[in-house]
Amino acid sequence: MTSETITAAASGTWKLGDLEINRIGFGAMRLTQNGAAFAADATPSDRDRATSVLRRAVELGVNHIDTAEFYFSPLRSANELINRALAPYPDDLVITTKVGPGRAPSGEWLPHATPEQLRGQVEENLRQLGRDHLDVVNLRIVGTDSIADRFGALAQLRDAGLIRHLGISNVRPGHLAEARAIAPVVCVQNPYGIGARPEQDELLRACQEHGVAFVPFYAVAGAGREAGASGVESDEVLAVARAHGASAAQVRLAWTLHRGPHVLAIPGTGNPDHLAENVAAGALRLSEDELTLLNSLHGGTA
Ligand SMILES: NC(=O)c1ccc[n+]([C@@H]2O[C@H](COP(=O)([O-])OP(=O)(O)OC[C@H]3O[C@@H](n4cnc5c(N)ncnc54)[C@H](OP(=O)(O)O)[C@@H]3O)[C@@H](O)[C@H]2O)c1
Repeated sequence: MTSETITAAASGTWKLGDLEINRIGFGAMRLTQNGAAFAADATPSDRDRATSVLRRAVELGVNHIDTAEFYFSPLRSANELINRALAPYPDDLVITTKVGPGRAPSGEWLPHATPEQLRGQVEENLRQLGRDHLDVVNLRIVGTDSIADRFGALAQLRDAGLIRHLGISNVRPGHLAEARAIAPVVCVQNPYGIGARPEQDELLRACQEHGVAFVPFYAVAGAGREAGASGVESDEVLAVARAHGASAAQVRLAWTLHRGPHVLAIPGTGNPDHLAENVAAGALRLSEDELTLLNSLHGGTA
């Protein structure tokens, strides 16, 4: 597969509300530091390298970027890098951000924002990104509590024109129903990938049923989570990769896209070669036999 010649358009498109995007997008969490995300002793990324990755992503057809105000290292902020690299923003670029538990300037995680505090988080994203409205805002939660009050607060900000579309993140299936009863939900962003817990498929299917995008994170990193990809791969993934002259990361991304037309990808990287590879994964078509093999690792329903 010649990565450099394949653009994000090869992955097909999906609409987040009225906003059409290519299914392969980009996650900004890896841009602000070298190594693990949120590490207290992280070395900040090289600013020029990070901005060039963002610009190259857009050149390669990426028009969906996932970010958050809490993606920062001691010297870099993902939102600031996005603003610096891409403003004035292309008309078709959709920036999705998230609010919920914030981080203090020192980097420590704070308790979940109250409904009142969510407005401040939305405004901070607006300031950092240099926009007058946010395209998509995910309410990111930790735990199983009701999200009605917090999602209701975001629905009010949507009504006020600060937010175009709403999503939810790190949620259980019941949260989707709860949120949809309050306001339209355009996406659910949850950890997912080959080897994910089978119960995650319930949410994936519920999203498909309701025309909601399912947006996996850690599709490449897997169990490495914040630390990143371990580089250790199963024989099955490696065999499929070899058959296509592709990388294991590309197989992982392609597998998620094969889970349904509503599945989007937001792989995160600070490495320009990985970026091109990840975008090219949208052109990788897996056979039924290959999907059966990879589904057996997954442990979920086919
Ligand atoms: N809502 C939430 O709670 C939540 C949580 C986590 C993440 N997210 C979002 O989801 C996005 C995706 O998660 P993620 O950043 O963990 O992404 P990921 O794509 O699953 O994994 C990224 C890790 O894989 C490596 N990698 C990426 N492409 C590779 C390739 N082609 N070959 C080899 N290694 C590769 C990266 O290292 P290199 O930098 O060296 O490429 C990094 O270690 C984040 O950027 C963020 O926007 C949301």
